[in-house]
Amino acid sequence: MKIAILPGDGIGPEIVGQAQRVLDVLRDDGLAISYDTAPIGGAGCDAAQDPLPPATLALARAADAILMGAVGGPRYDTLPRPMRPEQGLLRIRRELGLFANLRPALLYPELAAASSLKAEVVSGLDLLIVRELTGDIYFGQPRGRRRNAEGADEGFDTMHYSVPEIERIARVGFEAARKRSGRLCSVDKANVLDTSILWRETVTRLAADYADVALTHMYVDNAAMQLVKNPKQFDVIVTGNLFGDILSDEASMLAGSIGMLPSASLDANGKGLYEPIHGAAPDIAGRDLANPLATILSLAMMFRHTFAHADVAQRIEGSVRSVLRRGLRTGDIALPGEAVVGTRAMGDAVIAALRSS
Ligand code: IPM
Ligand code: MG
Repeated sequence: MKIAILPGDGIGPEIVGQAQRVLDVLRDDGLAISYDTAPIGGAGCDAAQDPLPPATLALARAADAILMGAVGGPRYDTLPRPMRPEQGLLRIRRELGLFANLRPALLYPELAAASSLKAEVVSGLDLLIVRELTGDIYFGQPRGRRRNAEGADEGFDTMHYSVPEIERIARVGFEAARKRSGRLCSVDKANVLDTSILWRETVTRLAADYADVALTHMYVDNAAMQLVKNPKQFDVIVTGNLFGDILSDEASMLAGSIGMLPSASLDANGKGLYEPIHGAAPDIAGRDLANPLATILSLAMMFRHTFAHADVAQRIEGSVRSVLRRGLRTGDIALPGEAVVGTRAMGDAVIAALRSS
């Protein structure tokens, strides 16, 4: 199990550091794990004037799985676009063909009160957003800036999906729904966008191959509303890159904190990049304040999806559950007045739980 670790920027190195300690425990237990670290994002720019240095891409290509922290920070906001940290992330997704982004939103019962929604609306929440990750307006051409006929500057991007791109992500959605409660909701904007009309037609056609899955469709604006009104109506949501970006941030709040949500970005062969869905949080970087649990839970997803070690995944998830049950809280998941622990202490608690499991 060869893992490339890309800590990135801001809180990235701290949270990844805790996940690395989890890997060390598993290796001590006898799992054949090796890992190597390389810079990405702003750290890549600092080290090699490139948000995805060639050596980092090579390491990621050679690995079986990749663990990433987060990228970005104010220091890099004024760089030209190809040098921006986000480009490192977008390029690695694209270069490695990581088209299937799984973003589960699971509410741990202990955190029901930490959600900004009423406990009865979110308790028992367990939904999965399947987001397409290498197409759409994120990568469509042409894009850029130009002067229009009236002499005004304008910016433009192209939303774009081909049938094969829609089919492969829809299949991931159908398969995931099949393994869960058998309900799949495809989210689009087919009342306005041609891309979405093709999306809906394609997903509907594929449904014939999945008679055991109940497929519904929803416009993205309605989905955004339904997610806060009655999130438990959803099991698996499949959607494009842009809508999935937005809806997954929204869904994270249902689970108490964005600091709790892991993700997997998979290629066609199960190789994956695993990362928390939150960003680099430069405002709290280096201060032992960040929640490392989303990163540790991303490791659990790695063992489940790339290494087919569901037992190890469950052991990691069980350790996270047990520290939450014992009342350990980083600032983002603490209620007013509750005692707060730091990144490192949260890591210590997970390690202790893991050792005794
Ligand atoms: C995410 C992030 C990225 C995205 C950014 C950092 C490019 O928001 O992973 O959701 O938009 O995909
Ligand atoms: Mg996002």
